[in-house]
Amino acid sequence: MDRTLVIIKPDAVERGLAGEIVARLERKGLRLEAAQVRTIDASTAALHYAEHVGRPYYEPLVEFITRGPSLILVVSGVPEVWGVVRSLMGVTNPLEAAPGTIRGDFGLITRENLVHGSDSAASAQREIGIFFPELA
Ligand code: TYD
Ligand code: MG
Repeated sequence: MDRTLVIIKPDAVERGLAGEIVARLERKGLRLEAAQVRTIDASTAALHYAEHVGRPYYEPLVEFITRGPSLILVVSGVPEVWGVVRSLMGVTNPLEAAPGTIRGDFGLITRENLVHGSDSAASAQREIGIFFPELA
C-alpha cells in the first residue's frame, strides 16, 4: 500500500501545530494526496476506532477525537508509507516517544497524542475508505 491515512488530531489543531506536522511529513519527502479539515462525528469515530471498542480508554478517546476540527490527510511517497509515518509519529505514549518524533517533541498525554497514522497496509486501505471514499 503506497498511501496511508494521517489524522492531525483536535489537540494539535487547537495548539496550532497542524502546519508543523504537515511540514515534517513534507520535509521527509512524502506527498499530500488529500487534505480536509473536518470535525469527526461520533459514528465515523466509531468506525475508525472499531478495534478499540470495550477498552477502558474508548469512550474518552471518542469524546476527544470528536471535540473539534481535525486535519485529515492521505499521504504517499514510498511503498509501505504507513511505516514511514509511524516512525515520524513515535510510539503511542508521548512520554515514551523518542525526541525528534512528533509525539516525542510535542506531547505529554497518551489520549492527546497529536496524530494518527494507519498501522498496516490493510488499515491504511480501510481508513482511507472511511474518510476519503472517493479515493478507495
Ligand atoms: P492505539 O491504536 O493503540 O495507538 P496508536 O495511535 O499509536 O496506533 O490507540 C489508539 C488511540 O487510543 C491512541 O492514539 C490514544 C488512545 N489510547 C489511550 O487513550 N489510552 C491507551 O491506553 C491506549 C493504548 C490508547
Ligand atoms: Mg492505532
